[in-house]
Amino acid sequence: MFEQQSENLQLHVKQLASAAQQKSEPSAWFEVLYAEAQGDTTHIPWAKLAPHPYLQDWLTNHQPFASQQKALVIGCGLGDDAEALANLGFEVTAFDISPTAIAWCQERFPNSTVNYVVADLFAVPAQWHQAFDFVF
Ligand SMILES: C[S@@+](CC[C@H](N)C(=O)[O-])C[C@H]1O[C@@H](n2cnc3c(N)ncnc32)[C@H](O)[C@@H]1O
Repeated sequence: MFEQQSENLQLHVKQLASAAQQKSEPSAWFEVLYAEAQGDTTHIPWAKLAPHPYLQDWLTNHQPFASQQKALVIGCGLGDDAEALANLGFEVTAFDISPTAIAWCQERFPNSTVNYVVADLFAVPAQWHQAFDFVF
């Protein structure tokens, strides 16, 4: 049953992505998927509710970090990578094109120090250029 649900979700994601591409809005389907999920993380195929293992490995092997380094997390999804960096003392800005994803991060981590922002990777604010020590 779990496998069937997972296959259905994959099919739905493919359909959303291909419909968005046909409309020449290749990133638009992310917001649709997050909004449809209505707070249920099992509807988000990449939501592991933990930092990405590659990031976690890298962080584990490169500590300690100088304090107050600035980190930028691109396409932050539900915020786990951003929170991992913040917990190690980084000043984190994390952005996603999906307003629902950003609201979800703020709901999941109400006391977070992370600056969660709705932004498009292809139109980031000029003040972010060259402004970060670490970009993930
Ligand atoms: C595959 S998900 C990965 C999310 C998160 N990094 C994780 O590992 O859980 C890709 C994320 O990038 C976001 N995204 C896609 N296109 C984007 C763009 N042009 N600018 C900002 N975020 C974008 C999506 O909304 C989605 O949250």
